[in-house]
Amino acid sequence: MSKQHRIVVAGCGGMSNVWIKDLLKRDDALIVGLVDVYIGQAEKIRDAYGLDCGVYTALAEAIADAEADLVIDVTIPDSHFEISTTAMQHGCHVFGEKPMASTMEQARKMIETADATGKSLSVMQNRRYDANIRALRELISSGTIGRPGMINADFFLGPHFGGFRDVMESPLILDMAIHTFDQARFIIGADPVSVYCHEFNPPGSWYKGNASAVCIYEMSDGSVFSYRGSWCAEGASTSWEADWRIIGEKGTAIWDGIQAPYAEVLASELAADETAEKKFIRDTARVEAAMGWNGKLGHEGCLDEMFLALKEGRPAETDCRDNIHSMAMVLGAIESAKSGRKVMLS
Ligand SMILES: NC(=O)c1ccc[n+]([C@@H]2O[C@H](COP(=O)([O-])OP(=O)(O)OC[C@H]3O[C@@H](n4cnc5c(N)ncnc54)[C@H](O)[C@@H]3O)[C@@H](O)[C@H]2O)c1
Repeated sequence: MSKQHRIVVAGCGGMSNVWIKDLLKRDDALIVGLVDVYIGQAEKIRDAYGLDCGVYTALAEAIADAEADLVIDVTIPDSHFEISTTAMQHGCHVFGEKPMASTMEQARKMIETADATGKSLSVMQNRRYDANIRALRELISSGTIGRPGMINADFFLGPHFGGFRDVMESPLILDMAIHTFDQARFIIGADPVSVYCHEFNPPGSWYKGNASAVCIYEMSDGSVFSYRGSWCAEGASTSWEADWRIIGEKGTAIWDGIQAPYAEVLASELAADETAEKKFIRDTARVEAAMGWNGKLGHEGCLDEMFLALKEGRPAETDCRDNIHSMAMVLGAIESAKSGRKVMLS
């Protein structure tokens, strides 16, 4: 029987519904407090789920009052630093929403706080928890297409959120692209070295800040990751997982973010075929990705990993010390867009 964690959920807006529904399914989770700067929000969520717990506006008070050992940070990005550090300093582990922080300085201080308190801080990167992305990662790491040289991700959607995203300076890069950047690191197993980003707000955008961007990253394995994205693209949407093309020495891997990934690999690599070598455009053969992962999907999959890591006393896959590299991709892109220059990240 797993330990039952006493949980305070901080931030009772839209996304807290997803967390609370998933937490209520777990034997190892008990919600003992809800916090929001607007007490009415916390009361609304308490009543909606029939929770028997206190509602608060101050996190430290909630932790002490409810004897919590775990805080879920579902507040807005600008509050993540304050909530996470307060939680760890008051003896709690933290599962936080992305993005981990609003600045690199904050992210570094959050890691320092985790080191100093011995508490764990892991970040919700739910898009890693998907059988297709795990199969794609395996397709690459097993060498099917050889060493990857170029990774392309296209992300084009037109969601009308309303709320904080509509008035953020960089809604696409800060609030969404963290997922795609984290996915890129996860798929190829490399970290960013530099970035050049052009961020802009195209005609027809309903966002105040820049809702579109093109970014070029040099990665630690020598490959180049290119990202083209927009959150104000009406029509012909890609999936939320993005549309991927990864080109390696021996072939290309494709994943549309929805169906199973596959590769097209030089036929000469798959079977000794000397005639294939002589053609102008070489013959290739399709290789299906092996689907071997059967964990829970998305948010629930990431939660499983976070709770298991706590139980096993190890950092979660999405521990803050890993996640800071995805944060660096986000904040480096914004710095590059502002300065008009390539920014070194390591
Ligand atoms: N992982 C995902 O796929 C995913 C999807 C959507 C949102 N998110 C993330 O979840 C977070 C919350 O998003 P949302 O859509 O629920 O936002 P929201 O604006 O609907 O809710 C945020 C809530 O936090 C409260 N809040 C803000 N600062 C606070 C503080 N210091 N203390 C206590 N409460 C505070 C607000 O009053 C609000 O009720 C964001 O970081 C967002 O990027 C993640």
